[in-house]
Amino acid sequence: MKLILLIFICCSFMITSCKQEDNLKYKDKTVTIEDRINDLVGRMTLKEKIFQLNQYIFGVNTNANNIGETINEIPPEIGSLIYFSSDPETRNQLQKKAMEETRLGIPILFGFDVIHGFRTIYPISLAQACSWNPELVKNACAVAAKESKLSGVDWTFSPMIDVARDARWGRVAEGYGEDQYTNAVFGVASVMGYQGESLSDTFSIAACLKHYVGYGQSEGGRDYRYTEVSPQSLWETFLPPYEACVKAGAATLMSAFNDISGVPATANHYTLTEILKERWKHDGFVVSDWDAVDQLINQGVAGDRKEAGYKAFMAGVEMDMKDNIYMENIPQLVNEKKIPIEKIDDAVARILRIKFRLGLFDKPYTTIVEETNRYLQPASRAIAKQLAVESIVLLKNEKQILPLETALKSIALIGPMANDKSNLMGAWSYNGKEQDVESILEGLIKEYKNEVSINFSKGCDFDGIDEAGFQEAIKAAQKSEIIIVCLGEKKNWSGENASRSSIALPPIQEKLVTELHKTGKPLILVLSNGRPLELVRLEPLADAIVEIWQPGTEGGSAVAGILSGKFNPSGKLAITFPLTTGQIPIYYNMRPSARTGTQGNYQDISTEPLYWFGHGMSYSDFEYDSVRISSEKITREQKLIAEVTVSNSGKMTGKETVLWFISDPVCSISRPVKELKYFDKKEIQAGSKTTFRFEIDPMRDLSYVDATGNRILESGGFYIHVNGQKLKFELVD
Ligand code: BGC
Repeated sequence: MKLILLIFICCSFMITSCKQEDNLKYKDKTVTIEDRINDLVGRMTLKEKIFQLNQYIFGVNTNANNIGETINEIPPEIGSLIYFSSDPETRNQLQKKAMEETRLGIPILFGFDVIHGFRTIYPISLAQACSWNPELVKNACAVAAKESKLSGVDWTFSPMIDVARDARWGRVAEGYGEDQYTNAVFGVASVMGYQGESLSDTFSIAACLKHYVGYGQSEGGRDYRYTEVSPQSLWETFLPPYEACVKAGAATLMSAFNDISGVPATANHYTLTEILKERWKHDGFVVSDWDAVDQLINQGVAGDRKEAGYKAFMAGVEMDMKDNIYMENIPQLVNEKKIPIEKIDDAVARILRIKFRLGLFDKPYTTIVEETNRYLQPASRAIAKQLAVESIVLLKNEKQILPLETALKSIALIGPMANDKSNLMGAWSYNGKEQDVESILEGLIKEYKNEVSINFSKGCDFDGIDEAGFQEAIKAAQKSEIIIVCLGEKKNWSGENASRSSIALPPIQEKLVTELHKTGKPLILVLSNGRPLELVRLEPLADAIVEIWQPGTEGGSAVAGILSGKFNPSGKLAITFPLTTGQIPIYYNMRPSARTGTQGNYQDISTEPLYWFGHGMSYSDFEYDSVRISSEKITREQKLIAEVTVSNSGKMTGKETVLWFISDPVCSISRPVKELKYFDKKEIQAGSKTTFRFEIDPMRDLSYVDATGNRILESGGFYIHVNGQKLKFELVD
């Protein structure tokens, strides 16, 4: 009897405590997120709060640059984990502990570097920008989000929107090129793809804008180094993509490794708090980059870990990635009253806000779906393929040697990239698998079935001095009608910690082309790389050059289709190709020179790059008629409509991107020679024409920012630049 009574008491106690649990305001879905946050923060101890501010590592980091040991016992109270696993069941076990074995049951936020696809790998970001198709990029990011979510990942450290103008810096591969507007447009597209309509949607993940800010300005292209960023260029060049993406609702940002003119980005109160939180009203949170808090010591602004933690936290970095400094030092800093508790509460609230918005409190576990239904779905592959096709840039096409003639009977396919799979995926493709990728050789074999004999020979490796394969390659060339040489960079030659003093391909690859050229056969270069290359010696040897970047899972078939003419190239460069490394930095939107003509040019080489930003050819012939404008004078309140009609006089239907630039020749602060303000890509049927239209909004398109971020609109003359045409108009008061 006693036992029964005891069981009864225990049961009713458990039920009441569960009921109490259920009644907790922060667990109630019907309450507003802000009320849930306030309720929860009000219940948390200092220790529980500090746990939220830390991110630990789960699994083995495959990024060779980041040595970080996995922790055997993950504390279930931890705010976030970098999840080096693709197993949703393991995530659910970790999450179960957080939900059920901690006092408050706060879910863990699982983050990961999903940079250009999770398992279905699509082209690197630099290539994506060359597609000029933000809708396609948005769709690709939505695929990545879905595959991530089904693998247990809620948050990606992407997009990278660092404007980068130095091709020696390996991370140019990870951003959208040299132009701030392009970075803004593609950054927004990718945020929208990842985050969907709402963060709480089934397949949405949170985006993280990185690396805030100025990281692309790395001196000499050296990674992790000092960056000189003047207040003017901060506002004019580096902040605009961030501002656009924050406005588009990006949930989080990552503070950068670099040092902004003496104040590291991770300890920069001006950028992290005054601009981001106070001016732009961002209400999500900032995570540090890997060890970036600890690195404040190396950067010379903190004497020890405690000071580093204090500086980063007070500047506005809410979450500490990996280095455990917040965990170790914030309790003491709060007890010493150096960090006010209100600041801790605000930081915790920001992190919880994203967890609530993601719906993690209400649906903390990943739905388990069979692996075959999780990845590489036909629709996902189709998006990856279309993006690979549209990001390929036809740089040169002498005598229209491409597309390959239909009567062709033999091709020599040569070079280290010709039958490579791994390198086609590019850096940051952790979960990408070679078995999913089609090489260029396989793509061509499929494309031509048995109709064309493909004589493959690797010729040489990516680097080194071994020329033993040259003879076989030359023989393959001699017995073929045309030579296709596939060269490029290995995937770890670009990306993080992949700076190069020269952007030329290694001499062995250049020598292979020189030898093949001697056969006198037509030669097509196919290049796969993560940065612009120095092509000064190779370009004269090639009849055609096809820049395929690192195109991902569907790369092989995309390239084969471009070569055969099944697909019409439509990519245009989002970054300038210098003639030689010595021209760096060279970018289209530079400021005008004090002397014109030949003065100030290089004495030894041309001052022109090999291919400017915006360069890219098609198999169609696009002809632009004269640009028309609605008026030659507008007031500040009026809009100006500019239109241009483009005809496709070629035989193939193709897509053309019209890039609309503006210049302001006289201004209180000198403006760049021209600035991209809008672009539009449209398909034009062979033999038909289409009109492209740009509606100029004076405040948005004709103004500039000063060194404090104030937007100023000065009246006077402006020019519209489109495809070599230049048209004047005036803004009157
Ligand atoms: C990189 C970041 C990346 C982070 C986490 C860092 O080394 O700079 O871009 O998101 O590692 O893997």
